[in-house]
Amino acid sequence: MDKTKRKAVIAGNWKMNKTPSEAKELLTAIVPAVKDADCEVIACVPYVDLSVAIETTKGTNVKIGAENCHWAEKGAFTGEISTGMLKEMGVEYVVLGHSERRQYFGETDETVNKRTKAALAAGLKPIVCVGELLWERECDITEEVIARQIKLDLFDVTEEEVLNTIIAYEPVWAIGTGKTATAEQAEEVCGFIRSTLAKLYSQDVADAVTIQYGGSMNDCNADELLSKKDVDGGLIGGASLVAEKFAAIVKAASK
Ligand code: 13P
Repeated sequence: MDKTKRKAVIAGNWKMNKTPSEAKELLTAIVPAVKDADCEVIACVPYVDLSVAIETTKGTNVKIGAENCHWAEKGAFTGEISTGMLKEMGVEYVVLGHSERRQYFGETDETVNKRTKAALAAGLKPIVCVGELLWERECDITEEVIARQIKLDLFDVTEEEVLNTIIAYEPVWAIGTGKTATAEQAEEVCGFIRSTLAKLYSQDVADAVTIQYGGSMNDCNADELLSKKDVDGGLIGGASLVAEKFAAIVKAASK
């Protein structure tokens, strides 16, 4: 496995934080702080912040992502947002299958798969999140859970499409809890995801897919987590809301 084949990707997932004016303020601080990054830098922001986020980052190395999308092109789906709507705005990435969507909004692997295929068909790059619950880790079924999610979420996703997909390993017990997975735990599961991709596609494809770790990653632990060979980047929640912390993580990924 060769880390040099992959580009590190640091993405902020702002979740339900920041109004449009606050988004502008935060991105205005982030842009100069990450301008020399030697990794991909993405901010995934609430739908209502997308417009100002795209305007504020125009011509910079910061790319903008959404936090979800629907699979239908249009129709009677009150409150939903289509891939075409995101594309037309200039959105490039979309977080899909986040554990908060699965836990609180009833999303399943089936709908994550539909969203993933729709996003790819529209030319958006999905960041597909997978991860086990604490209970599942304690029962020693982490690998079964992850393999099932990867197989179902990527069902019918072609080799060419998976190369435009980022996988984020986010152990649910580490999200927003301050409990980071150890670098060894992160590496173990990111490596397992890569070997699952190798079985589903090929080793070459698996070696080219970016696999991020997410879950209480911050400016203090990023260096160690990102030093692992199968951890190609991070999906950052809380620390992405503070420009200096986010920039420090980007710096760690640029080494
Ligand atoms: P925290 O970094 O706040 O733990 O959130 C991680 C996450 O869920 C990113 O998608």
